[in-house]
Amino acid sequence: MTTPALLIRGAAPYGEEPADVLVADGLIAAVGVEAAGHPAAADATVLDASGLMLLPGLVDLHTHLREPGREDAETVETGSRAAALGGYTAVFAMPNTDPVADTAGVVEQVFRLGAAVGLVDVHPIGAVTVGRKGERLAELTAMATSAAQVRVFSDDGDCVSDALLMRRALEYVKSFDGVIAQHAQEPRLTVGAQMHEGDWSARLGMTGWPAVAEEAIIARDCLLTDHVGSRLHVCHVSTAGSVQVLAAAKARGTAVTAEVTPHHLILTDARAEGYDPVFKVNPPLRTDTDVAAVRQALADGTIDIVATDHAPHAQQDKECEWDHASPGMLGLQTALSVVIETMVHTGALDWRGVARVLSENPARIGGLTDQGRPVAVGEPANLVLVDPEARWTVRGAELASLSANTPFEGVELPGRVVTTLLRGRPTVLDGVLVDPAGAGA
Ligand code: DOR
Repeated sequence: MTTPALLIRGAAPYGEEPADVLVADGLIAAVGVEAAGHPAAADATVLDASGLMLLPGLVDLHTHLREPGREDAETVETGSRAAALGGYTAVFAMPNTDPVADTAGVVEQVFRLGAAVGLVDVHPIGAVTVGRKGERLAELTAMATSAAQVRVFSDDGDCVSDALLMRRALEYVKSFDGVIAQHAQEPRLTVGAQMHEGDWSARLGMTGWPAVAEEAIIARDCLLTDHVGSRLHVCHVSTAGSVQVLAAAKARGTAVTAEVTPHHLILTDARAEGYDPVFKVNPPLRTDTDVAAVRQALADGTIDIVATDHAPHAQQDKECEWDHASPGMLGLQTALSVVIETMVHTGALDWRGVARVLSENPARIGGLTDQGRPVAVGEPANLVLVDPEARWTVRGAELASLSANTPFEGVELPGRVVTTLLRGRPTVLDGVLVDPAGAGA
């Protein structure tokens, strides 16, 4: 089935001068005055996009889709729906599923499920160690050479804390330009940890998760990466000290990249005051000083990307006592809005910067050549149109995710995804999901 050509009228690429953009055969066929006069424009569907921003489709390097194993919390299909509605055209699915995605068979299963849904490109992340147990390396090369062509490996949810295993993993992925995405959490320093170690944990009587447990692993892994000559990506950076460690490593040339989550850009540990587990997350929400530091680091490039750590959890796993609740928060449908609120409205990033941290850099880190590309002639038409002036109120029950654990319940946020295009095919039109089978949704 070929997708009809689309003439997008008057959108502003990267928030700059409005221009017409013609999309045909999955590619950007023309930009600017040539678009309307292009032969393919003759029978194109016209989209009036005046007042909208045009960006490359967003790419999430850190998503939990829960399939296989916890289809009561999320499936590849429901997560793909949330992603498309959030403006994403590609997501990387973390391997902490059941069974764990630690073999070619499981990563191929997730890859095929994603392709069958067809709303976003789903790229499985492979586990670093068998069963994510941190004991022996998984078959990284088998996953890399599988149909899923895995390039990113992580034991996310747990740290690869054994230094020798981490060294071996970094060595292994060099042969196919892979990357190890580390969940930086020194386990002995965080036994029983429930929230950030600081004033609030002392007041609330909860076991603390000290910043140094993150910073020590990042420092160690940057040194290992230098030693081995490999590539490291640091998941969900949350502390001011981690930013300093990363800045020092980057200054001496370490091949390290880093992500921050939307929630660490906007929420602090004060949210634990009411003991509402919706605010329980790993790494935990930190202090105002940390929030300021990660924002600054995202603005100056010390942190390369925003990744959602979209972590859906079933109601019974979240609506219980704090100590027993699973850590994690939804993110796919609110990430762009949080970045607009915290980075664009504060003047820390312009729209070029938004494209860089939410699309171009994550695609590059994940090894994708067809995503995160410029809005330019000949490039794949993976695009998102955003209304920057719109505001909306988050309601967990109305999100496409199967779970409802958003920390922004009832909160009004700026920016609305109007249209998402995957290789020129609308997956979202006027804020509504378009079923790939053409049945509507
Ligand atoms: O809060 C979190 N939730 N942090 C993680 O590292 C794992 C994730 C999950 O899988 O729920």
